[in-house]
Amino acid sequence: MPVPTTRDKNPASILIEADKCSGCGLCVNVCKDFGLEIVNNKVHQSDKALFGCIACGHCMMVCPTDVIAIEGRTLSPVLMFELPEKSQAADYESLLAMFKRRRSIREFKNKAVEKEKIEKILEAAQTAPMGIPPSDVHVLVLENKKQVRLFAEDFSNYLKGLRWMSSRWFLALIRPFLKKENNEMMHDFVKPLFDVYVDDMDKGNNWINYDAPLAMYFYGSPYADPADPIIAATYAMLAGESLGLGTCMLGAVHPFIQNGKKASAFRERWGIKYPSREGLVVIFGYPAVHYQKGVKRTFAHIHRVS
Ligand SMILES: Cc1cc2nc3c(=O)[nH]c(=O)nc-3n(C[C@H](O)[C@H](O)[C@H](O)COP(=O)(O)O)c2cc1C
Repeated sequence: MPVPTTRDKNPASILIEADKCSGCGLCVNVCKDFGLEIVNNKVHQSDKALFGCIACGHCMMVCPTDVIAIEGRTLSPVLMFELPEKSQAADYESLLAMFKRRRSIREFKNKAVEKEKIEKILEAAQTAPMGIPPSDVHVLVLENKKQVRLFAEDFSNYLKGLRWMSSRWFLALIRPFLKKENNEMMHDFVKPLFDVYVDDMDKGNNWINYDAPLAMYFYGSPYADPADPIIAATYAMLAGESLGLGTCMLGAVHPFIQNGKKASAFRERWGIKYPSREGLVVIFGYPAVHYQKGVKRTFAHIHRVS
């Protein structure tokens, strides 16, 4: 059975021009579906395929003589391109310098992000590893400050209808049913968040998405791996950085718009196609703040097995 996604539930077709095949076996080696084998020095489809071709395209991309064409699940040979020169690729030092210079930016100049840059961010983010192809990552793009503000106002109004979730009686009621960490999070994070998102928006202060000139919400489908939209969002954030934009990830919208009729109506208003296990908003804009220094951050723990 092929792996289902919302875009295609069928396996891709593997078209082989066996007479051109040199029998090098590179394609067999990279196919972790075990869908190819070399017989009499030529590549053939095997009957040992695990899922059926998911259209990762690796066999087609690794082949030195263009023997294999994968068609289906949104892939086709016309989508192949020449690799950029290695000398053009960022090296460790330049990547690390960009990472170290990055800060979460929440203050933006009153300047729009150019359409060309929006397209570049989307182009770069689509190169991310996004799980089993075809990617089930969806993106909502709010491409100016007005749209970003309207989204925040609508979200704040929507939260007003959920205000009971942060009330004392409700938190007391659910206390015995939640783990210690979740109780702490509800009291110390979710409640203050509701207060500031709802009450401050009424006063005109947008702490939800900071009136950024550009926001993108990455989310999955019920089929997607929860990591997929997060990885795409991370690529988008870094692409934004490379284009001279300040960026900030916003985790607080996604979990509130997943369950219930009101959430469904909110998603519908904004063209958000699916509820999904994970999702992330990234905001972008020209930074109105510049940092003099960086700080070293650390993982909670690195366990090296030696
Ligand atoms: C998954 C995720 C969700 C986040 N959500 C928010 C958010 O809702 N609002 C916000 O102001 N910052 C948010 N941030 C940004 C963090 O607060 C930020 O990374 C932290 O302040 C450290 O600053 P730095 O990114 O400059 O190192 C989020 C970051 C991540 C990774």
